[in-house]
Amino acid sequence: MGYFLLRIPKNPELMTTLRVDDNLIQIALNHSSATPVLIMDMATLKRTAATFSGYAPAIATYYAVKANADPFVLRTLAGEGIGFEVASEAELSTLLSLGVSSDRIITSNPIKAPAFISAMRSIGVDRFVVDSIDEIDKLASYAPGCHVLLRLAVDNTGSTWPLDEKFAATAVETIELAMHAVQTGLQPAGLTFHVGSQCTNPFAWATALRDAKAVWDEVKNHEIKFDTLNVGGGFPAAHHDVHPDYEQSLDSIVESISAFPDASTIEVEPGRGLVGDAGVLVGRVVGKATRSGNRWLYLDVGVFNGLMEVVGGIEYQYTSLDHEGPENEWTVAGPSCDSMDIVAREVRLPDLAVGDRVAISPAGAYTSVYASSFNGLAQPRVLCV
Ligand SMILES: Cc1ncc(COP(=O)(O)O)c(C=O)c1O
Repeated sequence: MGYFLLRIPKNPELMTTLRVDDNLIQIALNHSSATPVLIMDMATLKRTAATFSGYAPAIATYYAVKANADPFVLRTLAGEGIGFEVASEAELSTLLSLGVSSDRIITSNPIKAPAFISAMRSIGVDRFVVDSIDEIDKLASYAPGCHVLLRLAVDNTGSTWPLDEKFAATAVETIELAMHAVQTGLQPAGLTFHVGSQCTNPFAWATALRDAKAVWDEVKNHEIKFDTLNVGGGFPAAHHDVHPDYEQSLDSIVESISAFPDASTIEVEPGRGLVGDAGVLVGRVVGKATRSGNRWLYLDVGVFNGLMEVVGGIEYQYTSLDHEGPENEWTVAGPSCDSMDIVAREVRLPDLAVGDRVAISPAGAYTSVYASSFNGLAQPRVLCV
């Protein structure tokens, strides 16, 4: 991918120095209609999809739909041979309405509503993820005899968005869960884990697989034989100073899975890594203010209608599209009346005017899907180009 310092023409007169994906900003520059809008670049999406799907024949890629559920994005990924991971009936029905066949759909959510379990079974998906005794007991009544993957707790160091508090079981618990699954008539099929989202340590999956190997081997002493490994998502987008190198992560996964010669099914389920860098969110300045000597810039997009992930430490790059000149430091905020609607501080931008556009990137993942209509604010339209 082309992330580097470059000079690009913004309009006939303006030039600027940016560290951004040149293609995406060019696309944003050409877009002048209603904001906020999330522009998804299908060429970037296809390139990233090809990196995952073509990497190793032994590894099947399932896109985590929660990251961006736009039907055109899903259709494009389906066309690239990618499978899908769903967490709700709504995600499932979108895929089915696009003609995605059930053998390309999995689910990995450790906590599932009974109606969702039934919906998955009705299309023939009979494998679920568990990380607690309670969920196993629930499955025993709603999906008797089903296959289960056990979600193992792994080190989430290096991830901006850790996922290890709400989900996953320790190694000892995982072995107990496998035995409990057998006792309740379920079929323990293997392990899954998540290294945390926006994981910038390419070797996190290798470390997790070392922990998984100990559990994989230990269950054999209890007459349980696993055959499936799902190594989750976590692949980063180009937030802040991160230059994603999926090949390094995938290389280390491929190397590590050689320790599992009896694993017949190996899966990755990237969300952010597949769609994040393909999206640029375009918003407009709706107001400005000076408070205690600090300059504030208010955009028509903020925490409640697209940039929710800033509350967990995800940082974006802000690029002026219509105006340039000497830069100031701005506190950038969203348009709502809530004081937690502040998206970034110390952002360097020129002295923008009301109505000027700002490109926010990379924004393909966890933006439009998180947006609410709080305050009656517009949610970003998704435009695939
Ligand atoms: C079960 C599961 N799989 C995959 C993903 C995708 O993670 P990421 O977007 O970090 O790749 C998530 C994200 O929450 C998840 O919960």
